[in-house]
Amino acid sequence: MIDLSTEYLGLKLANPLVASSSPLTKDLDSLKRLEAAGAAAVVLPSLFEEQILAEQEALDQFLSRGADSFPEAQSYFPELPAYGVGPKAYLEHVGQAKKNLQIPVIASINGVTPGSWMRYAREIEQAGADALELNVYFLATSPDVDAQQIEDRYCALVREVKAQVRIPVAVKLAPYFTSLANMAHRLDRAGADALVLFNRFYQPDFDLEALEVTPNLTLSHSDELRLRLHWVALLSPRIRSELAITGGVHTAEDVVKGIMAGAKVVMMTSALLRNGASYIAELAGRLVEWMGQHEYESVDQMRGALNAAAAAQPEMFSRANYMKVLGSYTLETASLRRR
Ligand SMILES: Cc1cc2nc3c(=O)[nH]c(=O)nc-3n(C[C@H](O)[C@H](O)[C@H](O)COP(=O)(O)O)c2cc1C
Repeated sequence: MIDLSTEYLGLKLANPLVASSSPLTKDLDSLKRLEAAGAAAVVLPSLFEEQILAEQEALDQFLSRGADSFPEAQSYFPELPAYGVGPKAYLEHVGQAKKNLQIPVIASINGVTPGSWMRYAREIEQAGADALELNVYFLATSPDVDAQQIEDRYCALVREVKAQVRIPVAVKLAPYFTSLANMAHRLDRAGADALVLFNRFYQPDFDLEALEVTPNLTLSHSDELRLRLHWVALLSPRIRSELAITGGVHTAEDVVKGIMAGAKVVMMTSALLRNGASYIAELAGRLVEWMGQHEYESVDQMRGALNAAAAAQPEMFSRANYMKVLGSYTLETASLRRR
């Protein structure tokens, strides 16, 4: 009997397959389908700082000027994008998800500036969430803000959210740090119970006919997993925070790679959007098959087998690998690939 069970954020999970934050976790029926297919846990879509602030602003206006000013207040954030729901509906969604699912429910909060909106972390906890994922999707575009300020802000955010709640807090971040290893250590010390690697950066495209910048969301492919494998393999022997992979997990082999790099769980959105919730059951079946063929008895036994401490060639994670990779690509390789 192959044991797929794992622990993540203090939660006992039946397997390492988690549905990450997406429209699939926004709707109760879809959540039930994910659970029925064998998802070990779900991460709800994010509640955004901007949504909380918009509601606060509307309420302030209402209280200070009376009901007549309410429509005006509602247009205070005219550009607020359509994704997601307001704080009240979000808390209801957390409560409904908890009431209707047996599997752990991880809520998600997305923000970049420490402030009053963070008290919603506590409200989310009170609504029943088993854990909280803090997604810091911060694009540093100001030439006046240096790296130190940005990194300090990440740590302040984590400390403040941790101070609001007792449930475990995971931090989802992008890979764009000059010293990611240092940043991971700092977040670990700030109290992050887990790091979720990595946010995808949805680069906008140019529409040349309309002369407009357009949003561009493409689903991921397994190729994107390698960046995550690299960092999870490097960090997992070195930090206390647990590690989860999000981005590029599509096949049973991808799952095995993630676990062997040292991840506690792997998360999926693109694979489920493409193939439907039932794909989780298919993937779990293939995972068991793969483990049987390769004589692994449990997920715990595979974990970290290829991390930077255990790999037979740890130099493959470093500069030596860069030279080796470049050297391995000859003109012959190129002509073979053209055929
Ligand atoms: C349509 C869509 C909506 C998403 N919404 C959220 C969100 O609200 N919060 C969040 O942290 N991540 C969100 N994500 C990111 C996913 O949770 C996931 O991290 C990302 O898609 C990479 O994983 P994948 O390669 O399995 O798709 C969203 C992704 C998609 C495609």
